[in-house]
Amino acid sequence: MKILFYAAKIYDKKSFGNALSEFPGIEVEYIDHELEPRTATLAKGYDAVCAFVSADVGAQTLEVLHDGGVKTVLMRCAGFNNVDVEKAKELGITVKRVPGYSPESVAELAMALALAVNRRLYKAYNKVRENDYTLTGLRGVNFFGKTAGIVGTGKIGAAMCRICRGFGMRVIAYDVYQNPALADFVEYVSMDELLAQSDLISLHCPLMDSTYHMINIETIKKMKDGVILVNTSRGALVDTNELIEGIRMEKFLGVGLDVYEEEAGNVFEDHSDDIMMHSVTARLLAFPNVMITSHQGFYTVEALAAIAETTLQNLMDAAEGKRTPNDVA
Ligand code: NAI
Repeated sequence: MKILFYAAKIYDKKSFGNALSEFPGIEVEYIDHELEPRTATLAKGYDAVCAFVSADVGAQTLEVLHDGGVKTVLMRCAGFNNVDVEKAKELGITVKRVPGYSPESVAELAMALALAVNRRLYKAYNKVRENDYTLTGLRGVNFFGKTAGIVGTGKIGAAMCRICRGFGMRVIAYDVYQNPALADFVEYVSMDELLAQSDLISLHCPLMDSTYHMINIETIKKMKDGVILVNTSRGALVDTNELIEGIRMEKFLGVGLDVYEEEAGNVFEDHSDDIMMHSVTARLLAFPNVMITSHQGFYTVEALAAIAETTLQNLMDAAEGKRTPNDVA
């Protein structure tokens, strides 16, 4: 079986190269291009394509893939908000994902962002490099004894709950389903209660119609003054313009984002020499209490190995017509 692997990076080739030794029936061809309607034509004759978070797996792309005889779309990520699931079903294309490769890799980054914005580590690092040993602008708060509000307590949210408990925080959560594994230390509350009580709010629910822009000026106004907001889930959970309004209202002690609405054109690209015409990201970065990373939650040795292995197993399962919990369509 042959996979056309889109937007391949060196680390993908390494982790998939290692995992392929366990799957002798699979061949992978790596290309730099992102999967989108124009590049989908390249997949003609392949059994499957492999795509990531910034691919456009909308109706048009799926039509082109279908015309080229592609039967399976392998998403090498957990989220699938960029896939037109109904269209895939209609065309009989199987879509599989990697739902839980290493929840701790994302949860640990979420805590790293929370700590970094709280103690302004990005500033502290640069100050000392410049021989400036003053503490101006670096004051933070203790996490011990504070309240962490976790939105979405699936695999990653649950890992974040455990990390916050380790810091001696009270942990409250909001989810449409309660996770029984967390019953001994997490208190489920309504979203409004979570917003009102939390000193740290971390988002771990998927992007869906019901969660789109769940953080907006109305929900921001319900938060405590001096709250820390972390988003490692999907950019569009937060309305960026209204977040900026909230930052200007001095609502936040800090904001840490591994994902943001504008990221599609940026993720894993080097724009350091480009003049950005309309960059809301640049506006966000002008604030001293905001730190942005570029979708690196999944980027640990353990997570990459698990993503490669599960993705290849997903193709084996698809070829055998096996339905598994990794099925999106
Ligand atoms: P999961 O499916 O295990 O958990 C998601 C949880 O969100 C579930 O418990 C679900 O009930 C809950 N949920 C659904 N609708 C909700 C709502 N309206 N309000 C509150 N909670 C709601 O997913 P997992 O593995 O924990 O991943 C969460 C998200 O993290 C993914 O959807 C993905 O967008 C993001 N992610 C980001 C990565 C990164 O590199 N930054 C890497 C991997 C995932």
